[in-house]
Amino acid sequence: MNHKDFIEIHDYSAAEVREIFDVARDMKANPATYHDALKGQTLAMIFEKSSTRTRVSFEVGMFQLGGHALFLSSRDIQIGRGEPIYDTAKVLSRFVSGIMARTFAHKTVTELAEYSSVPVINGLTDLSHPCQAMTDYFTAWEHLGDLKGRKIAYIGDGNNMAHSLMFGASKVGMNIAVATPGGYAPDPMIVAQAQGDADNAGTKVIVTNSIEEAVRDADVVTTDVWASMGQEAEAAKRQRDFEGWQVNNRVMSFAKKEAIFMHCLPAHRGEEVASEVIDSERSVIYDEAENRLHVQKAIMFVLMKK
Ligand code: CP
Ligand code: NVA
Repeated sequence: MNHKDFIEIHDYSAAEVREIFDVARDMKANPATYHDALKGQTLAMIFEKSSTRTRVSFEVGMFQLGGHALFLSSRDIQIGRGEPIYDTAKVLSRFVSGIMARTFAHKTVTELAEYSSVPVINGLTDLSHPCQAMTDYFTAWEHLGDLKGRKIAYIGDGNNMAHSLMFGASKVGMNIAVATPGGYAPDPMIVAQAQGDADNAGTKVIVTNSIEEAVRDADVVTTDVWASMGQEAEAAKRQRDFEGWQVNNRVMSFAKKEAIFMHCLPAHRGEEVASEVIDSERSVIYDEAENRLHVQKAIMFVLMKK
C-alpha cells in the first residue's frame, strides 16, 4: 500500500480499505501470528485532548505487535509551550517509528505528517476521526455481512464523526444519510468531497434536517455527543438546540427491524441517545470499542511494517 500516513479515509481507495479490513480480521482471529510484526518499533502518541479508547487501544495494540508506545500529553511536552510542529515532527522522526496524534486543529496533524519522515496517524481532530469510522464499518460488516447497498444513518451534530463516516461510506459501498438540526450541518467542503467519492462509487450521500428521512430503512443508526471536546462552553446552548434529536425507540422504529445501533463513545445517556437504545440488544457499542484495537493494529501494520 503506497501511503505514508493515515489522515483521512478519503485518501484511501475502496480496495485499500478492504485490505486494512482483511488484515484486521486476520489479526483478530489469529493474534499470535502478529506478535513480532512491529518488533522493536515505537509509536509516539500525542494527545491534546482526553481519551480512553484511542489511548488504550493504540498502546495495547503496539504492545501486541511487539512494539512500544509512548504517551505524550501536550501539557507535558514542549508543543504545549509553543515549540513548532515543524521541529517536533523532525525531532520525533529521529526517535520513533510512527506518530499518532489527537489534536484540536486538523492542521496540526497534517503538518506533523508533512514534516515527519515516519508515518502519522490521525487519532481525532476537530475535523475528523478516521480510525473510529474505519472501525465502525468493520463492526457493521461483522454484524451485517456484505455492506454494499446498505444504509447508515447518522443523527446529531455535523462533527468529526459525521465527516469521517461520510468519507468511509462510499469505500464500503454504503449509502449514508446525515441528519442534523439547522445550523449544525457538516462542513460543506467535506460534504462535497464525500459526494464526489460517492458519485464515483455509485453510492448516495444525503444531508437533511429530517430524522425520519435519514433513518428510514437504515441498517445502521449512529449518533455522537452534542458538544465535542473543545466545545464545552457551548454545551448549554447545544442542549437547547438539540432538543428532540435523541436517538430513542421512536427514532429506531423508522429503521429496518434488524438495524444495529452504534456510538463511538463516550456517550451521554438521556441526551443524544436513550438508554432504551444504547443498552438494548441492537446496540453493538462494545464490539465497536473492541474493534478499535484490531483495526488500528492493521493500520499500524500496513504503514509501519518493514
Ligand atoms: N471513541 C473514542 O475515540 O474514544 P476516546 O475519546 O476515549 O479515545
Ligand atoms: N465528536 C466527539 C468524538 C469523541 C470520540 C469529540 O470530538 O469529542
